Amino acid sequence: MLNTDEINQLREAWRLSGYDRYGQISAYGGRALTAASRRDYRELLDLVENDALGVWTTLFTMGLQVPRHEAQAALHPLPLAVALRSGLLVEGSEDVVRAGWGLQFDPANRAVFSDQLPQMSGVRRTDHVLGLGGATKLLGDITLRREVPTALEIGTGCGVHALSLPSHVGRVTATDLNPRALDFARINAGVNEIELELLQGDMFEPVSERQFDLITANPPFVIATPGQGWTYRDAGREGDSLGAELAAAARSKLRPGGVMQFLANWLEIKGERSEDRVAAWFPSEGVRVWAVEREQLDPLDYVRNWQRDSGDQADPHETAQWLNWFSERKVEGIGFGFVTVEAIEGPSDIVCDGVSHTVAYPWSDRIEERLVQRRVLSTMDPETFLEAKLSLADSVSLNQEADQGPDGWEVKRQWLKSLQGLRYADEIDQLMVTLLASCNGQVPLRLQIELLAQTFDGEPGVVYAGLYPEIRRLIDRGYVLVDS
Ligand SMILES: C[S@@+](CC[C@H](N)C(=O)[O-])C[C@H]1O[C@@H](n2cnc3c(N)ncnc32)[C@H](O)[C@@H]1O
Repeated sequence: MLNTDEINQLREAWRLSGYDRYGQISAYGGRALTAASRRDYRELLDLVENDALGVWTTLFTMGLQVPRHEAQAALHPLPLAVALRSGLLVEGSEDVVRAGWGLQFDPANRAVFSDQLPQMSGVRRTDHVLGLGGATKLLGDITLRREVPTALEIGTGCGVHALSLPSHVGRVTATDLNPRALDFARINAGVNEIELELLQGDMFEPVSERQFDLITANPPFVIATPGQGWTYRDAGREGDSLGAELAAAARSKLRPGGVMQFLANWLEIKGERSEDRVAAWFPSEGVRVWAVEREQLDPLDYVRNWQRDSGDQADPHETAQWLNWFSERKVEGIGFGFVTVEAIEGPSDIVCDGVSHTVAYPWSDRIEERLVQRRVLSTMDPETFLEAKLSLADSVSLNQEADQGPDGWEVKRQWLKSLQGLRYADEIDQLMVTLLASCNGQVPLRLQIELLAQTFDGEPGVVYAGLYPEIRRLIDRGYVLVDS
């Protein structure tokens, strides 16, 4: 699309225009831009002039056409002929041009070119290159920002996620099957002066002999797409096997202690627990996994969503074919979520959770905390555990629901709630309430259990056997901290 010199010219033109989030806010004010982000352009239309910032705003924020000579001036030093040849601009009627590519800003205010036009709704080309979308943001939010030497992004698209990695990674490699995506990624890396190694090919094939410290992917995970085969969402795999493929590759592609994170869809099949389905993707040795299901859709909603996404005409035969694929396999729902896999030594430790509520962002902090908790738990057996000192996390509260009885309040239900972090809520019984009341980080668990047994007139071994799995669960979910 653009050679290196032309990318440099585009970078210079973009810089000179002042077209970024801050430039726009200082010229037009936050209110006009907030309205524009909801496609209400009234205020912005009154404010823009035909200076470079105004022309870029008209083209790339509002998706409107501008006179050729204004575009030529606003793009200097990139020649208009190059902008038209590459597809950045396209000829309109008469002597006007309009945007052929979209241009968005990522959270760090970097310029991101893609096929995502501002007014986009309607049919996409099959090699459409996504811009910044909800799934892109989710991938950015879950990505562990550990300082590491190497990272790989599979299915980089326009490179938007890969651009964020060099802030904490020494060398970033990004791959995609679609050559058009890699063209955009190369342009975006050049415009933002960020070094990326870009390789074309299917999944891990371009890096078959290599290992990485961090691997991320928002892969084309849509299940059973009939019809056009849009590369951005359809990897051409059977069912949800793309997730299984990534999971199976994790151990061999990660360096020791490395982490792979990816978004996925999985099938909810009648009579099968989806947690078990996802857990079965992983080997029995060598990985610590936390898979989080964020939402579940029934097949019809799922099909409708993806038809809307691509501007598909929703041809009834195609819809029927897609729905039949699900019903023939007894699929009752499709789960969506994200998976973190850490390369470890020894037996695998796999947890699959449903977390549909809002947690304290960013997710990456929640994931780090959960990995730490699980690491601690993996080093402890019932005997060593007895010597540990437990304390409650700061944000944990005890909640009670009580009815009036003949002797005063009768507690019906008690539950722990964490107001920070994962914001879980879990019911607990009176024995656990009493134990937690004395979790102050000072006393070994052994002593607490002995006191508890005296109070409830029980035998310490029996009391401990009953409480042990529940204590582990509360540690795993972040209510209780261990000072071993
Ligand atoms: C959902 S998009 C993600 C784009 C970008 N990483 C983001 O998060 O917005 C999936 C990307 O995977 C690419 N892709 C599709 N099939 C692939 C395959 N078999 N191997 C590698 N990449 C593939 C698509 O071209 C597309 O760019």
